[in-house]
Amino acid sequence: TVDIIRSVAELRARVRYWRDQGLSVALVPTMGALHDGHLTLVKAALELADRVVTSVFVNPTQFGPNEDFSRYPRQEEQDAGLLADGGCHVLYAPTVTEMYPAGFATSIHVGAVSEGLCGDIRPGHFDGVATVVTKLLLQCQPHLALFGEKDWQQLTVLRHLVRDLDLPVEVVGVPTVREVDGLARSSRNAYLSAAERSIAPVLFKVLNQIADGLRQGGAAEELCRQGIAQVLEAGFLSVDYLEVRAADTLERLTRLDQPARILVAARLHGARLIDNLAVEPA
Ligand code: PAJ
Repeated sequence: TVDIIRSVAELRARVRYWRDQGLSVALVPTMGALHDGHLTLVKAALELADRVVTSVFVNPTQFGPNEDFSRYPRQEEQDAGLLADGGCHVLYAPTVTEMYPAGFATSIHVGAVSEGLCGDIRPGHFDGVATVVTKLLLQCQPHLALFGEKDWQQLTVLRHLVRDLDLPVEVVGVPTVREVDGLARSSRNAYLSAAERSIAPVLFKVLNQIADGLRQGGAAEELCRQGIAQVLEAGFLSVDYLEVRAADTLERLTRLDQPARILVAARLHGARLIDNLAVEPA
């Protein structure tokens, strides 16, 4: 079994106890509905630290008014079982009022890398993420915090946050875990109908095609234009963005002249899906 902790005070006491014994601590922040992607983060955490805390908190402040906060899957018992099997030591599952007591009024905004891509489509989203992750880091005070490359812009925002605020934690990025057909694992894949599920892998296919095109010297804009057409043709309702950006700064690139990331967000009826792929100059 995994110990479930619901208050900041109890979490602090547990981590202090571990640290007094000289043990290292890793935090894996999640919103639950755990899948292989999350569990790979936990596994990596166990390899890097002596004790692992996984937080499960569906953070209301990172959802827009018309987004899926209320229907986001919540399955704590199942999550606790998966974490116990995975060797995680503590499941930290605070309530909304523990995280945001009455009168809560502070927000963290990370400039530059929060703008564009998901930042444009989901106003305020990264402020919500940056604020809750800052709180989780200060509540837990881990040596390491692990995040997935699946959410590349989020990982980039959080790296900037930790650097800009001198937070005493090492951020570790973990490669994206995929289904056999290439679809990135996501809690939101549960929203997809069977027909939509069969369309979804086109995202990863198009990312790979663009990576090939860039390596052959192709222009980013034209490759992305073709990619968007392909995603729509496969049956996606709309494409929020499909762009080539510098991997670290997220600045727009016209061609592959530095390490890059191709990022996509597109909508099916059931869900909005995101994915990204690294591509490096030869
Ligand atoms: P959530 O979507 O639950 O994801 C939790 C962590 O798991 C994130 O770091 C995410 O990038 C990672 N992850 C999700 N799917 C993955 C996959 N297929 N492969 C590898 N890693 C994957 O991201 C959030 O929650 C929230 O925004 C959070 C950071 C917890 C703040 O509320």
